[in-house]
Amino acid sequence: MSLPEPSRRDTRLDHYVDTYAERTHGLQVSAVRALFAVANRPEVVSLAGGMPNIADLPRVELGASMDRLIQERGVQAMQYGAGQGELFMREHITEVMAEEQVHAHPDDVVVTCGSQQALDLVTRIFIDPGDVILAEGPSYVGALGTFHAYQAQVVHVGMDAEGIEPEALRQAVVSLRAAGKRVKFLYTIPNFQNPTGVTQSIQRRQAIVAVAKEHDLLIIEDNPYGLLTLEGQPMPALRSMDADNVIYLGSFSKTFAPGFRIGWALAPHAVREKLTLAQEAATLAPPVFSQFAISTYLEEFDWRGQIVAFRDMYRARRDAMLAGLAEHMPEGSTWTTPNGGFFVWVTLPEGLDSQAMLPRAVSARVAYTPGTAFYADGLGSRNMRLSFCFPTPERILEGTRRLGEVISAELEMNRTFGIDPGAARHHDLHTGPAPDIS
Ligand SMILES: Cc1ncc(COP(=O)(O)O)c(C=O)c1O
Repeated sequence: MSLPEPSRRDTRLDHYVDTYAERTHGLQVSAVRALFAVANRPEVVSLAGGMPNIADLPRVELGASMDRLIQERGVQAMQYGAGQGELFMREHITEVMAEEQVHAHPDDVVVTCGSQQALDLVTRIFIDPGDVILAEGPSYVGALGTFHAYQAQVVHVGMDAEGIEPEALRQAVVSLRAAGKRVKFLYTIPNFQNPTGVTQSIQRRQAIVAVAKEHDLLIIEDNPYGLLTLEGQPMPALRSMDADNVIYLGSFSKTFAPGFRIGWALAPHAVREKLTLAQEAATLAPPVFSQFAISTYLEEFDWRGQIVAFRDMYRARRDAMLAGLAEHMPEGSTWTTPNGGFFVWVTLPEGLDSQAMLPRAVSARVAYTPGTAFYADGLGSRNMRLSFCFPTPERILEGTRRLGEVISAELEMNRTFGIDPGAARHHDLHTGPAPDIS
């Protein structure tokens, strides 16, 4: 069958260029997307993507269970559903959240199409163009894309090895409000942060919650990785410390599988009502079949045991990455030691630029995500995010070896050509996120 030719009635590349809404003007294809197409080739070790490794899920048993679901309850499971999400799904979600000491009523939960849609709905109901969102610097590229799409101004707050610095948070709120800015919320990822892997200590959590309360600042707690702790027990969520002032976002993408696209928001009652209305306007209802499928999984399978198996598998990968970095990174490089999640954040020796280096790394068959993707203000040129979730431990070791060689060659080139380490370029990457690097 031959497909019809795409229509090219106009000589202008985009006939609708003057028709788009203003908020779409900031949307751009990620500067690194083209490179990632190459990075996905099998010969390249990609430490760039954030895809969970779900190959070991019990697929045969899941298949049988889904088969029964369609045969026995397919008429309901394939029907439209409630805008807030199905009650049985929301009840299961409260059980999952109890693992992180969040005790909530199913009525306060809104089911979403991944936590990414929860981010979208929260931003939609709170943000007018120009409003300020505070976020860790660096922060999750997918959230920055959403905030940008709603024309928010993202202001980064400094963080250290224990997460956001409460004093920096206080100063940011006070000075921005004094300058007449509407600071709407703090967006934070307390556990194994994407992209740094940093986890907020208990004391830090209490201090952040206290500053937010004192300054009447809403907190959006994004927690897709919390149960994937590699050592010790999961930390108590911010929401467990303040039920009135925190909107908690969760997801089944990392603890089960992302393809079902089921996440959620737990919000104070009035906010929950607005989120439900926004959800109805966006999708009528979150995917009903996925809610049936995930609930069936939670009822029929040992989901807690599966999370333990995920932890063991990711621990081996994290350890391989840390061992590889210790062996191969040239002097002057530093990196974080995550206790869970998917990511390590590397700081390169002075004078290096991770974005400029990326094409050479891909030629050397290793890929990473340049740090600039995770800042709204062009910082991060000396950083890179490395993911240990997807490649095998052997491939991760090989990837760090290749990366070490690329960085050493880069340093050598700088020495040979006498490049001033202080003169590293700063990129202004106000681009939309590429889904393949989220
Ligand atoms: C911090 C963070 N939030 C949200 C998401 C979106 O997850 P999902 O929409 O699959 O639940 C991701 C995905 O990588 C993430 O890293």
